[in-house]
Formats: sequence, C-alpha cells, structure tokens
Amino acid sequence: MNILFVGDIFGSAGRKIVRDHIAHICEAHAVELVIVNVENAAGGFGVTPQIAEDIFDLGADVLTTGNHVWDKRELMEYFSSVPVESQERARRVLRPVNLQPGLPGHGVFEGTTGSGVPYAVINLMGRVFMNGTNDPFHAVNDVLKNIAAKVIVVDFHAEATSEKVAMGWHLDGRVTAVLGTHTHIPTADERVLPGGTAYQTDVGMSGPYDSVIGVETQLVLHRFLTGMPGKFEAAKGNPKMCAALVTCDPSTGRASAIQRIMLGE
Ligand SMILES: [Fe+2]
Repeated sequence: MNILFVGDIFGSAGRKIVRDHIAHICEAHAVELVIVNVENAAGGFGVTPQIAEDIFDLGADVLTTGNHVWDKRELMEYFSSVPVESQERARRVLRPVNLQPGLPGHGVFEGTTGSGVPYAVINLMGRVFMNGTNDPFHAVNDVLKNIAAKVIVVDFHAEATSEKVAMGWHLDGRVTAVLGTHTHIPTADERVLPGGTAYQTDVGMSGPYDSVIGVETQLVLHRFLTGMPGKFEAAKGNPKMCAALVTCDPSTGRASAIQRIMLGE
C-alpha cells in the first residue's frame, strides 16, 4: 500500500505546483492514502475552509496543520461545524493534538481507505523553540492507546531536528511513518527505521523556493539587515512540490520503503 504525504503547501505558488503534480504521482504509484500539510496554504498564513475544500478536490484524504492553524479565524467555525465522529471534510482537517485542552478541532483522524484499510493520521507539534504545545512524547503515547488501525501516519510539525529524530525513534515500530514538517527545507535522511517506521526529518515545503522558506526574499533580508518589523508576503518564484512516498504492509502497518519526491514546473 502506498501513502503520499505532501509537505507544507505555501501560498498560491504551492497550491498550483501541487495541483500540477498530485494526480500523476497518485496514478503512477497507485497511492491509496493522501495526506497534505496545509498550514501555510493561504498566502503563507494558515488555511481557509475554501482552500481546504480545493485541496480535498485534488484527492487529499486528510489535511494537517501546525503552529499557523489559527491564522484564519474562519477555520475555527469549520472545525466546529462537524461532530467528532464525523467523516466529513471539515473533520479531516487536523490541528496539532498536543495543544491546550478544549480548543476547537481535533488532532487525530481515523478512517478507511477506498480498498477498506483502516488508517489513522496524527498531527503532532514539537515544543523545542515553539510555543503553546504540551509534551509531544507523552501526548502521542496517550493517543496511540486509543487507535486500533495498524496504518498510522504522524505529521510531526517541529522546529528542532533533534526533537524530530528523537520522535522517530520514540515511535519506531509503533507507527507506519513519522514525517517532519514546518522547517520547509527537505532533509536527505529518509529511511525505514529498524522497527518498520518510515522516517524523514522534514519533507520540505511545496511552495516557492526562490524565497526564504516561502516568504519574499527581500522582505526577510530587510528584517535581518535592519531589525525593523515589516509585513511578510508569500513569494512566487521557482515552485517545487515536496512529498514523501511511503510503502507499507496494510495488514501490519510496517513500512518497507520511503521515497523523497521533489518536482518543479
Ligand atoms: Fe509551521
């Protein structure tokens, strides 16, 4: 069984490059489950319900987010529009599971693929150099106690490479894949860990690479050179789609392969 995980879509350039490539990748690899991180899909800041719907229309099954999840306020209403047991699209957009209790939305989705394979997606966020998150290591232990599916994909949205690598080892043999997001630059360390968990520190963004992690280069340089605040805008140049293709045994959830994908125009 093949799973496609698409790295953080950044702005309109990211949405377009994913639109250009996702169908042919899914067809070529007979992909059964598509997960897309969308936390920067709306101009670099969060995601709107409309953009989420557009990405579902491209064939995504579950959308994940991260620290930018609350940037577009209308997403809270979208989250609250469906009950926890729903399988509707609004329930398939996740926010990190280890935020403060009682916030809108959910951090775990359990579903079944078209061919009948049960799966779960967990959206987890790091706490090294990040605010507002609870211990992800114990949080994911608690979440796993309640999941029956064997095929489990974790989006670990985190800043520090060390925390991400540690999470890979923490979950090795317990989930199908631990895939890092948030830092927007793909890392070349994709591998299957000894226990059968596919791992990559960061899948990389799907967005404009002539930029500073998605933002217009001159705006970021100005901030570094002057220390003055300024508005950030999404760049457009040199878009690439970054993704990880994970192959697993649907009966055990064990991964057998992970392939890094980076496609330009
Ligand atoms: Fe992020």
